[in-house]
Amino acid sequence: MNVLIDLISREVSGAFEKAGFDPAYGKVTLSNRPDLCEYQCNGALPAAKVYHKAPIQIANAVKEQLASCKMFESVEAVNPGFLNFKLSAEFLASYVAEMNLVEHFGVQPEQNPRTIVVDYGGPNVAKPLHVGHLRSAIIGESIKRIYRFFGNHVIGDIHLGDWGLQMGLIIAQVQSQRPELCYFDPDYTGEYPEEAPFTISELEKIYPEASARSKVDAEFAEKAHNATYLLQQGERGYRAMWKQIMRVSVEDLKKNYENLNVSFDVWLGESDAQAYIPTMLKIVEDKHLAVESDGALVVPVQEETDTKEIPPCILLKSDGATLYATTDLATIVQRQQDFHPGKILYLTDKRQSLHFEQVFRVARKAELVPPQTELSHIGFGTMNGKDGKPFKTRDGGVMRLEYLVSEIDNEMLKKITENQKSKENLGISEEEAKETAKTVALAAIKYGDLSNQASKDYIFDIDRFTSFEGNTGPYILYTIVRIKSILHKYHDLGKSAEGAVITSAHSESEKNLMLEISKFNAVIDGAFADTAPHKICSYIY
Ligand code: ARG
Repeated sequence: MNVLIDLISREVSGAFEKAGFDPAYGKVTLSNRPDLCEYQCNGALPAAKVYHKAPIQIANAVKEQLASCKMFESVEAVNPGFLNFKLSAEFLASYVAEMNLVEHFGVQPEQNPRTIVVDYGGPNVAKPLHVGHLRSAIIGESIKRIYRFFGNHVIGDIHLGDWGLQMGLIIAQVQSQRPELCYFDPDYTGEYPEEAPFTISELEKIYPEASARSKVDAEFAEKAHNATYLLQQGERGYRAMWKQIMRVSVEDLKKNYENLNVSFDVWLGESDAQAYIPTMLKIVEDKHLAVESDGALVVPVQEETDTKEIPPCILLKSDGATLYATTDLATIVQRQQDFHPGKILYLTDKRQSLHFEQVFRVARKAELVPPQTELSHIGFGTMNGKDGKPFKTRDGGVMRLEYLVSEIDNEMLKKITENQKSKENLGISEEEAKETAKTVALAAIKYGDLSNQASKDYIFDIDRFTSFEGNTGPYILYTIVRIKSILHKYHDLGKSAEGAVITSAHSESEKNLMLEISKFNAVIDGAFADTAPHKICSYIY
């Protein structure tokens, strides 16, 4: 099924041709004067210069060719040479009726579906999820679903931050607090306990403590480095402790993401990339891409056409330690081997843009993926509080995702129960009110985020986002509920919307509704082409 605006353009292009002009001038756009028309074509203006005629003459000639066209209720040529169109109600109804019959309301699947890895989430194990991870989860989940809607094979990967110094810090801190644990006994040869020696809330306290301590206590910092090293060397007790940290954290992360209705297909992480580092380094070495710089191994990636400086990508530090870029490059090797993706998309804060630019350039030079495989990064803006600064708790701390979500839940519950009182009891139980509050709160959070262009910073305004009026998640849900209620009433009359015959609009408002509905496939195509969920939001609104 063709997109409506293309059908109209085709018709108008044909008319240009029949009137003796280049059909390329027949491109139609949505009207920017909806009070005058629904669609318009400005092609007569540029054509006038080429054909040495007045634009209005050309417009009139094209209009004549459309005189008997069933697609339009009216075609007008207006000065200086615009063509204004109104669709006929019959044609519009037949288009909407066709949408109703075909799959996905006429959105065409990708002709060549690809395997696409979407790398989003990126939480760091043993550190609480904070609002910075919220955007990645929400936007990434939306993009994943859009890609899938078009028939692509999409693999959502959480890409856990589960390796490196942060793990060494935790292990060293636990060791100094509880040296008697079997994990730290080099002579221990038995099985390690099934039960972890800490709960998630204990674990979450350990990391900030350890991190702060390492900054003032040089001896401790040394121990943490050593623990990191031993862990990476595969020391048995440290590996077992690492597994416990992972188990406890991942369980908690799963719960948190589930609450957001976000789900990953694979739970791989930085630790899984480690095995691919030697392969990746060998490829880079064989291609003579790396040079030594102050003892470090780096790949220069600056190109002549660059207008700004792109520093070399560091693969190994002078002490042989690997970095974020090393892991990301090794992960590309792993993904190529396991998934053969046609595209890998990363979602992070836009402050990581340079990192991905460097990583992609090395990956291209080293041919870690075939040239047709797209590597792409979407950098999103910061979620700020009402004061325009990064979102904080009331007392200025880092806002944990869990607290944020429960704050909005409570706010929603308050609104629902207040509403209940003012309307003399809507007759729902406390339990039901709580469930509803949760659903509506999640819509408030997600829609508040998705309705903004991803790259922009935005203000998370609880009052506005939880409002049942305006461009908000709760308003959209409210409207859906009302629409469903209308459909239910229709159903109660013994009728059904499914398979209903769609007849021409009987009123201006019906026609306007049909005009909006008919844009569905074009909007979804646009959101897909530009990886822009906010386009779907504004359409829905
Ligand atoms: N763990 C990282 C962070 O918190 C995000 C990881 C994003 N994905 C990637 N492949 N680098 O900033």
